[in-house]
Parts: sequence; C-alpha cells; structure tokens
Amino acid sequence: MGKALEGVRVLDMTHVQSGPTCTQILAWFGADVIKIEKPGEGDPTRSQLRDIPGVDSLYFTMLNANKRSLTLNPKTPAGTRIFTRLIEECDVMVENFAPGAIDRMGFPWEKIQQINPRMIYASVKGFGPGPFEDCKVYENVAQCTGGSASTTGEIDRVPLVTGSQIGDSGTGIHLVAGILAALFQREKSGRGQRVTCAMQDTVLNLCRVKLRDQQRLAHGPLKEYPQYPNGKFGEAVPRAGNASGGGHPGWIVRCKGWETDPDAYSYVITQAQAFPALAKVIGHADWLEDPQFKTPEARLPKLDYVFAEIEKWTMTMNKMEVMTTLNKLNVPCGPVLSMKEIAEEQSLRKTGTVVEVDHPERGKYLTVGNPIKLSDSSSDVQRSPLLGEHTIEVLRTVLGFDEKEIAEARAQGAIQ
Ligand SMILES: CC(C)(COP(=O)(O)OP(=O)(O)OC[C@H]1O[C@@H](n2cnc3c(N)ncnc32)[C@H](O)[C@@H]1OP(=O)(O)O)[C@@H](O)C(=O)NCCC(=O)NCCS
Repeated sequence: MGKALEGVRVLDMTHVQSGPTCTQILAWFGADVIKIEKPGEGDPTRSQLRDIPGVDSLYFTMLNANKRSLTLNPKTPAGTRIFTRLIEECDVMVENFAPGAIDRMGFPWEKIQQINPRMIYASVKGFGPGPFEDCKVYENVAQCTGGSASTTGEIDRVPLVTGSQIGDSGTGIHLVAGILAALFQREKSGRGQRVTCAMQDTVLNLCRVKLRDQQRLAHGPLKEYPQYPNGKFGEAVPRAGNASGGGHPGWIVRCKGWETDPDAYSYVITQAQAFPALAKVIGHADWLEDPQFKTPEARLPKLDYVFAEIEKWTMTMNKMEVMTTLNKLNVPCGPVLSMKEIAEEQSLRKTGTVVEVDHPERGKYLTVGNPIKLSDSSSDVQRSPLLGEHTIEVLRTVLGFDEKEIAEARAQGAIQ
C-alpha cells in the first residue's frame, strides 16, 4: 500500500513535544522527515524523564517515530551551507524554537523563501502577535492562557491543568492541518507559504464551548452547570466539575470497588432520548410520569439528585458492567479507563493505536500509533532514530556530499 505523503520531504527543526508531534504524524503519512539535532546533545527530551540510564527516554521515543536524525549546527560555516542545501531539497520546514531563534541562526522567512519559493515553513509559538509574542511557552502555560485551566476543576476550588496535552500535542495536530492545506494550495499556486499556530490559540479553539458559555452568561444562569439553581455565577464561566460541555447533562459516578480502586468510575450521560431507558433500569420508572422529572428542562434544577440516584445503581456493579448494561439501552456512557487498562486493551493493539516497538538500546516499549486512519495509506510505526543515526546517509544521498565535504563539516563541528 502506498503512503499519502510519499515524496514529501520535511526539514524537521522541532524539539520537545509540540513540533515533534506534528512531524511524527507527517512521517506516519509517509513523508521523509529529517530531524535536525544539535551535535552532542540532540533534542533535550532524549535525556529528560529517563527511566533507563544512558538510553533515549520514552518522552523522546514516543514523539519521534519514523524520522531520520541528522546532527547539524547551522551556526557554523559548513552548517549554514548544509542547512541552505536542506532548504533547497525539502518541501516543508517545521520548527518550534523560542521566538526569533531561526532568524538568529541567519534564516528569516524572507531568506528561506528566496532559497526555495516552494517551501512551506510551519512554526509553533506560545502566542500570536501581541503583548506576549516573545514569551517562551510550555504546555501548562498554554492551558492557563487559552482558557482551559480557568474552566477546569471542581467548583470553587483551584484551577486545574488537564493530563491531555492540548497545548503541545493539540497545537502539533493543528499545525499538521495547516501544512496539509498549504501543500494542497501549492499544487495550484506553485508557491510555499508560512504556517503558524500559537499554543494559546489552539487551546482556545479546543475550549470554544466555554467561550460559547461565556456569552450565554449574559442571558442568565447556565442551567446545565452544577451551580444552578443554588450556586452563584460570577462574571466569567466557572469551573463545573465533571459536568458535560454539551447539551445533554452528564457526570462521573462511582462504580463498585471505588473505595479501593481510584479508577472505578463511569461517565453517564442523561441523553434526552435515552432517558426513559436509563430511568427504568435504575428503578425510577416513576420519573417518566412525574412532571418534575419528565422533561430535560424540568430535570435541570435536580441534576444533583438525578445523578445521586444513578450512582446508587452504578455502585452495585463494576464499570464494565455499567458500560455493557447501558450500551444495550443506547445510553451514552464510558468507563474511566486507567493507563494500565488502556495499555493492555487488545482492541487498541489490533487497530495500531497502541503499538509495541523494538529499540536497539531500550528494547521493547509501547507507543501510541497514528490515531488518524487512512484506508489507502499504511502507517507502520518505526522506532525513533538514535542521535545522528542518519547524518552521513542524508548528506550523501539527499545532498550529494562527498567524503571531503563531510570531513570538513565534521572538523568545523557542523555535524558530529
Ligand atoms: C519550548 C521552549 C520553551 C524551550 O526553550 P529553550 O530550551 O530555552 O530553547 P530555545 O527554543 O530558546 O532555543 C535554544 C537555542 O538552541 C539553539 N539551537 C537549536 N537547535 C540548534 C542546533 N541544531 N544547533 C545549534 N544551535 C541550536 C537555538 O538557536 C537557540 O539559540 P538562541 O536562543 O541563542 O538563538 C521554547 O523553544 C519555546 O517557547 N518554543 C515555542 C513554543 C513551544 O513549542 N513550546 C512547547 C514545547 S513542547
């Protein structure tokens, strides 16, 4: 089977998480991704959060599959030449350094465009143009400034960051969309373009339902929030615990074993059309005749009580039994699966969403494969490269360098 992005070459100047997630997806779609790393050090994540001494960390291996690694310091004369040649040979360049870093290397966008007018140059930054544009940003800063933290957490408690890396991986995925659109436009225009994604913007994009609620506040209390009808609403969208962000109220309820198992919980959604079946199975057929419970609107002020009654029932069985029973009744629900359970889930292995990979230094490890499935483009997961594993290969086969040129670059510390 062919691959969607076969023939597309990516100059990957990314590090840490946001940029590498983007180029990893491009690599899974079949692009030739050449990751440029600082000689001697490489991507800082190679040595961060290490579980095995001296071996590339899982942080690195899980974000850099299917790529080639080339050590290069573009700040040396030979490095500048190699970098220029790479710009000539590549279709897409991706970077997520602090603002201005690539310019300081001597490669502002105007120069890149001059070297290769077909180049698509994609960047992740913490913020777009404005008061914070020069700031360095990590995941949780983006979660705080993009609206996620202020709307996540228990009612009247501190703001919380989420385990889902919406600032880093979320922005990387947004950047993929921009790059693919630019590649498509290039087919017609023949020109490359600049693609930028700010982490604050992408977190906000993922939090758009909360900006929706901010505007609804002007017209009265948010009736599906747990604060209604007894709590107070201030000027901004409040944290709402585990309330659903959609039009059908939901909540996390305890299941059998919750006293000792921190993940013995299920999310249950009181979808209007499935409510009669839900009410009956939990022993509340009476609600269907009762004007105080009969309609979604009537139930809104009583959601606390409704979920407490649902929970009495879910606590009589484990979370998987809750799932099986409610699914048969078409009631939307989901068990809170732990990472251990997800790692062991065979259906995820079968679809390639969880993959076991072999690495020459660390041995076998699990990673998350391509979550985007294409029917006519295979997506095998290959282990991440060792630092500089493909330096010589790329210089010879992509750039046509000879031994003398390679030796000169090495002597200057341009490559390792
Ligand atoms: C993530 C971040 C905070 C890390 O900051 P940092 O570790 O201080 O790294 P920087 O991006 O500032 O870059 C480090 C330096 O290494 C240099 N460098 C990078 N690759 C190099 C290479 N191959 N050879 C030589 N120098 C290199 C850069 O030129 C830069 O030098 P300069 O500041 O003197 O110009 C920052 O890169 C950032 O804000 N990125 C944008 C937002 C983002 O993606 N954040 C999420 C990351 S998951």
